[in-house]
Amino acid sequence: MAFRSLGEFLNELESRGDLLRVRSPVSRDLEITEVTQRAVRKDGPALLFENVPGATMPIAMNVLGSPRRIALALGAESLDAPAERISRLVHLRPPSGVLGAIRDLSGTIEALDTLRSLGPKRVRSGPCQEVELDRVDLDRLPILRCWPNDGGRTITLPVVITKDPETGEPHTGIYRLQQYGPDTLGMHFQVHRIGAQNHRKWAARGERMPVAAVIGADPATVFAGLAPVPEGISNFVFASFLRNEPLELVRARTVDLEVPAQAEIILEGYVDPSERKIEGPFGDHTGYYSAPEPFPVFHVTHVTHRERAVYLGTVTGKPPTEDAVLGKAVERVFLPVIRLVLPEIVDMNLPMEGLFINLGIVAIRKRYPGHARKVMHALWGLGQMMFTRYLIVVDAEVDVHNLREVLYRVALQADPERDLELVHGPVDQLSISNPVPNFGAKMGLDATRKGPDDGFPRPWPEEIAMDAAVTRRIDELIARDPGLGRLGSRPAP
Ligand SMILES: Cc1cc2nc3c(=O)[nH]c(=O)nc-3n(C[C@H](O)[C@H](O)[C@H](O)COP(=O)(O)O)c2cc1C
Repeated sequence: MAFRSLGEFLNELESRGDLLRVRSPVSRDLEITEVTQRAVRKDGPALLFENVPGATMPIAMNVLGSPRRIALALGAESLDAPAERISRLVHLRPPSGVLGAIRDLSGTIEALDTLRSLGPKRVRSGPCQEVELDRVDLDRLPILRCWPNDGGRTITLPVVITKDPETGEPHTGIYRLQQYGPDTLGMHFQVHRIGAQNHRKWAARGERMPVAAVIGADPATVFAGLAPVPEGISNFVFASFLRNEPLELVRARTVDLEVPAQAEIILEGYVDPSERKIEGPFGDHTGYYSAPEPFPVFHVTHVTHRERAVYLGTVTGKPPTEDAVLGKAVERVFLPVIRLVLPEIVDMNLPMEGLFINLGIVAIRKRYPGHARKVMHALWGLGQMMFTRYLIVVDAEVDVHNLREVLYRVALQADPERDLELVHGPVDQLSISNPVPNFGAKMGLDATRKGPDDGFPRPWPEEIAMDAAVTRRIDELIARDPGLGRLGSRPAP
């Protein structure tokens, strides 16, 4: 089931008992943050604040702050389903002959359906343009102040639309927008982002970059905006794929861009290549305030919205937060794409505590000496995986999600001198421990089993394992003997 709009999604959540309407007065200054953080920590419901003093529209929070809601947003009951669809898409092959085509008819039909859904659909009008403001005044929007020392109110979950001036290819990214004044916002696209790259291209031509920002897109479009969609693939196409239904796009009113027709609020305007202004501090994903830094300025020249618009926000901070939950979902959904390039990867865990991009654990089917290092370097060269500062590689049978098992393998199987791979390169702009911004060290640890192939000089000891027949016998005994039955079934290895 595809949700055409945020409103449709909220209705579905309500019917499932997964939306809490907050009718008590809650201020958009800090108080919404406090309530939202409590909801996220409990894997609680989405929140709709209906009584925010001074606000002319309700504020939706924590809408995608739970794996079950993210899965639902992507039309499934669990995240395995979209991951599986991506896996089938990336492995799409022509059937081998007529017999092959008949044998795989259902797969072929599904693939054709998928391909049909990919192109967004152009429409002439949409609810996002029901109301046009005669004058831009951002103070009419219920923009949040999230943390006590934030430099200003901030639009925290906007889908920012730009385009490449050379190819005309549109791009979306979630980049926060801190309010400077009644019609200006800080455009916080970090240096590595495709939005920033588009900006550099417009600047090289000496032209203003047209920008639109969506506040309150349908949930699949929000997800496509934060997902590391490979360069050259449009996020609108990806959103359509996730929805399994074309995304409706309508021409923006005053800029040469297309915007999601079913969105709640659209800001239109431009970024001037010559202008920068200090943005921040802002309570960020790291759990720290990001330092004030110069960023381009988004001049908002036109605002449209639905008649009964809902404002969509989120709160960043030390995990667990909504964006950390979203990061985990990205890990699951994109694993098949990574495995397309690196089929030796069995599984991957980017733990929330590792701030999603700072720490990765990968299990591989190791085939030759130095294989773990080959995987590390390949990952460091793959899109936003370049930001991973610590990469731990373990053997295929290790459950990467079981951190006790991973620590056991690291402590036992890795040699700090021989198995450490230290490299330097780009690191995330938000990373705080690298002495120079955007550049720093990254560490890989090969915690796989070693053998003569690795040039390991000593015999690798045999791992203890119980005789399988004995385990079976004791299982049967436990099933028959109520006393021994108290020991329960076999613990996980
Ligand atoms: C809640 C949330 C807020 C984000 N804020 C920012 C931001 O302010 N600046 C930024 O560069 N990336 C931010 N991101 C990350 C980007 O949205 C993400 O990297 C996305 O893939 C866009 O990257 P791209 O422009 O390279 O495609 C945020 C992500 C989330 C989930």
